[in-house]
Amino acid sequence: MEIIKSVKEMQRWSGLCRKQEQTIVLVPTMGYLHEGHLSLMREGKRLGDKVVVSIFVNPTQFGPGEDLSTYPRDLKRDFHLAESAGADIIFTPNEWDVYPKGFDTYIDQEKLTLHLCGLSRPGHFKGVMTVVTKLFHMVAPQIAIFGEKDYQQLAIIRRMVKDLNFDIEIKSGQTVREPDGLAMSSRNVKLSSEQRKSALALYQSLQQAQTHLLDGETRSGQLIEEATSLILSYPGTAIDYIHVCDPDSLEDIITVDRPALMALAVKVGAVRLIDNKILTP
Ligand code: PAJ
Repeated sequence: MEIIKSVKEMQRWSGLCRKQEQTIVLVPTMGYLHEGHLSLMREGKRLGDKVVVSIFVNPTQFGPGEDLSTYPRDLKRDFHLAESAGADIIFTPNEWDVYPKGFDTYIDQEKLTLHLCGLSRPGHFKGVMTVVTKLFHMVAPQIAIFGEKDYQQLAIIRRMVKDLNFDIEIKSGQTVREPDGLAMSSRNVKLSSEQRKSALALYQSLQQAQTHLLDGETRSGQLIEEATSLILSYPGTAIDYIHVCDPDSLEDIITVDRPALMALAVKVGAVRLIDNKILTP
């Protein structure tokens, strides 16, 4: 596995690969890798010739007061993990190489960003779309893989790729969970052992909603209310949002008479966690 830091060097490497007609698969990450990230790399290895893993904690997708400065980082550990999952290149650009002095161009979207995390984290997806576009230009992959854990991010990137004619195939990977159901996240490391117990509330409330739906409760308002009570019964939790919505438009739905996305964001202490599930009646 090779480590590339400079944008120029990354572009040169991709150019050579493309000349040799090799398929480049990009797995964009912010590092502090876990099994969720590694599963995307393994899938990448299956789909293409070369897997490039980018590790870049992107400042433009963090709002003021969010956890940019405390986002967990451990590059040495990440290198070993990525190598064990079959990555060919780790691309870790510097902030000033990605956003040089005078940087002033952003990508944004109008509709999908009006929902879920787009409301509680204004500007977040603008930062995500901008950095993902830049990574696409730097790495020039034919395929890029994103996790379903960040459902809205995946939907927004699929829309962006279609709308802006990127010649890149977007693939997705299922959410990888801890044995008790907690969705893996780089932020889980920040949970105290007490908070780790409360964090299970996210998964449990999604499971409960599916069970109650199968028992005949199709009113999304009721399902949300039940999820709210379950989550708040755990110490230290505060709900950012719980929505039951259309899996394509992300618009709220009232009656779950077709597959619907249940998505939630919950703060456990100072740690904001998200999870989601497609509810099927
Ligand atoms: P990050 O949170 O590091 O996640 C990188 C990729 O791993 C994303 O596609 C995310 O959906 C996926 N992922 C995270 N947890 C997962 C899990 N438990 N199971 C499966 N996949 C999981 O998402 C970002 O970084 C950034 O926004 C990024 C796209 C890199 C842009 O900066």
